[in-house]
Amino acid sequence: MYTSYIKGLGFYVPENRVTNNDLSELMETSDEWIQERTGIEERRFAIKGEDTTTSMGVKAAEKAIERAQIAKDEIDFIIFATLSPDYYFPGPGVLVQRDLGIGTVGALDVRNQCSGFVYALSVADQFVRTGMYKNILVIGSELHSHGLDMTTRGRNVSVIFGDGAGAAVVSRSIQEGRGILSSHLHSEGQHAEELSLIAPGMGKRWVSDILADNDPDDVSYMPYMNGQFVFKNAVVRFAEVIHEGLAHNGLTSEDIDMLIPHQANLRIAQFIQNKFKLSDDQVYNNIMQYGNTTAASIPIALTEAWEKGKIKEGDLVVLAAFGSGFTWGSVVMRF
Ligand code: UT7
Repeated sequence: MYTSYIKGLGFYVPENRVTNNDLSELMETSDEWIQERTGIEERRFAIKGEDTTTSMGVKAAEKAIERAQIAKDEIDFIIFATLSPDYYFPGPGVLVQRDLGIGTVGALDVRNQCSGFVYALSVADQFVRTGMYKNILVIGSELHSHGLDMTTRGRNVSVIFGDGAGAAVVSRSIQEGRGILSSHLHSEGQHAEELSLIAPGMGKRWVSDILADNDPDDVSYMPYMNGQFVFKNAVVRFAEVIHEGLAHNGLTSEDIDMLIPHQANLRIAQFIQNKFKLSDDQVYNNIMQYGNTTAASIPIALTEAWEKGKIKEGDLVVLAAFGSGFTWGSVVMRF
């Protein structure tokens, strides 16, 4: 009977720091508004031509592989979660296979936005458990900054997001009760458009339509978010899916050593912390430094918490995410 566990972790963020005051030079916003509503102090924006979603993912992956103490060619599958791929197609999974020079292993792309890493980890866990693969590289990477509306029109979205990548090597174990104990995935497509980027897409509006209209007020290719609606759903779904994960394993919130919530908004994380009566030591947040990096936020936070010695072997770690789709999920693991 196989189980899966995280054998190595890594993250990468671009060097370029962008403060709230930097953004207030581009749009009508303020450090005070951003910090009060989101907790964000600064984020990283990739320099065009230097980093891509794939290259950041590769840098995070190289660290994770090194820390897993395995050779690159021991990776037998790649899973890449992002909403900001380098190309419309193919997805970045195959670009990672090429850039890392890994043999012709399978590469799967996951399109579940903020929940992408949790979904990807769950897929990896299933493949390892069945014995099909031994070492799976799971990456969450996002390059938001090139696609944001940096004018006042887009401020409710653009002040939140940041660029970066995180990666994990998920490996086979034969130790019962170690590693990923369970994962829980959900979606509610009824609210798909409430947090979305609908163009270019084959459904409603392709590039040719955008070019033909040549409308300077066209926002169809800018991310849209109904912020308050998303917030209200997030706090409910985060709580539900954390509870589901704990209950499935016969655990309570008192058993949690570390909760890593998707870094959507510090206020959401604090709401969840209070709801489960967790201490500051039981929840890790770094949205203050990196903003919301969507599929990358959980692996970045998990890696950073581990690097700081806040997660030790044997700890009960819970990951939870909510985002566009809507999709949400949790992973419960014994580190
Ligand atoms: O990771 C995926 C999941 N995403 C989330 O979970 C995000 C959930 N939502 C949120 O975090 C919050 O809704 C936001 C932080 C996005 C917005 O906070 P809010 O308290 O819901 O603000 P709001 O959208 O209701 O806007 C309040 C006011 C508006 O002005 P009026 O109409 O009251 O005059 C906005 O125009 O704040 C204004 N506003 C801003 N002002 C300064 C919106 N964005 C900004 C801004 N700077 N960046």
